[in-house]
Amino acid sequence: MRPQPDFIHEFVPGSSERTLLLLHGTGGNERDLIPLGRELDPNAALLSPRGKVLENGMPRFFRRLAEGVFDLEDLKYRTHELADFVTAAAQHYGFASDNVVAVGYSNGANIAASMLLLLPEILSATILFRAMVPLVPETQPNLSAVRVWIGAGTYDPIIPTAETKRLAELLRGAGADVTMRYFQGKPDHQIESLLLDRWSPRAMSGEEISREELMRLFEAARWAPSSFNAQQWRALYARRGTEHWQTFFDLLVDANKVWAKNAAVLVVFISRKFFDHNDEPSVTHSYDAGAAWENFALQGFHQGLVVHGMEGFDYERARKELRIPDEFQVEAMAAVGKPGRKEWLPEKLQARESPNDRRKLSDSIFEGPFRSR
Ligand SMILES: Cc1cc2nc3c(=O)[nH]c(=O)nc-3n(C[C@H](O)[C@H](O)[C@H](O)COP(=O)(O)O)c2cc1C
Repeated sequence: MRPQPDFIHEFVPGSSERTLLLLHGTGGNERDLIPLGRELDPNAALLSPRGKVLENGMPRFFRRLAEGVFDLEDLKYRTHELADFVTAAAQHYGFASDNVVAVGYSNGANIAASMLLLLPEILSATILFRAMVPLVPETQPNLSAVRVWIGAGTYDPIIPTAETKRLAELLRGAGADVTMRYFQGKPDHQIESLLLDRWSPRAMSGEEISREELMRLFEAARWAPSSFNAQQWRALYARRGTEHWQTFFDLLVDANKVWAKNAAVLVVFISRKFFDHNDEPSVTHSYDAGAAWENFALQGFHQGLVVHGMEGFDYERARKELRIPDEFQVEAMAAVGKPGRKEWLPEKLQARESPNDRRKLSDSIFEGPFRSR
């Protein structure tokens, strides 16, 4: 016998208390998200209904009038109907009704968000891929016990980032603990994923990193190319908990201190302005130090560490306190640490804790002479 109210669905029993409610996108069906569900949680039970509304033969969870324009009456009706199905299925299959996590894609994410807003008691957490604001409820639900993860794309052709932020704000306003992840804009041309995926988080755990872990970053810097292979860069560093830490930390501006306090290592990159071999001026000392820093940052990212560049510090004080001779230029600092939780950052920084986009490539390169735009 099927749980009432009826939905065509798949149910895969699990070995833990958690059940993932898998909600497909337009044109999908009850089988689509089963592999994703298993990957997300190998132990959870999986409940995967098929949307009952047909749009040109494609199953959905509620009617829409046009792309992005929802039939709100139908949405509300269907949200209640789906919630009743989850409750009935919990009884039918014997899973815990207070540990249901919705995983929705697109249309499925929108009905999951609608369920959060209209019937907050049904879901304990929600994972939303490419969701919009489904509706604004008349009364604000209490979502203080609910965790929400939202995955969005900076180049999503259907859902602008402002819409994703609006949804996150709506849910946060109701007390939900919301994590947003933007998938990096697509590159204009295909490149190595390490280059595309690297970014500069600020959330760090405060844990130490081992000397060996750290040395691999400097080793990567060592192999950067430089004019005449002169390697004009040098790095001064301080590890948390050592006698040097406070001196380095005190160089930072307050805006950097608030998050860099959880770093494991602070580094000051400098470069010698004259070649070592003849003391002639080096034109590319900064350029070459930049290449070394980028190697350092990429290696750190590859090792799963946070590496964040900083120019927000007192350059003169650094020179004085760290006894940097005049023939060296102070370039920049970097914070290195183990990744931490976004919630440990001040609220304003939490909102900025996602990869940045880039301007168009054609705005940066010119075939032939310089042209102003
Ligand atoms: C030399 C340099 C100095 C920077 N200074 C700061 C800083 O003082 N504070 C900060 O929060 N971020 C700083 N950043 C981080 C940049 O804002 C960040 O790299 C940039 O927005 C691109 O984002 P992404 O690294 O996540 O791709 C700095 C980055 C570099 C390379």
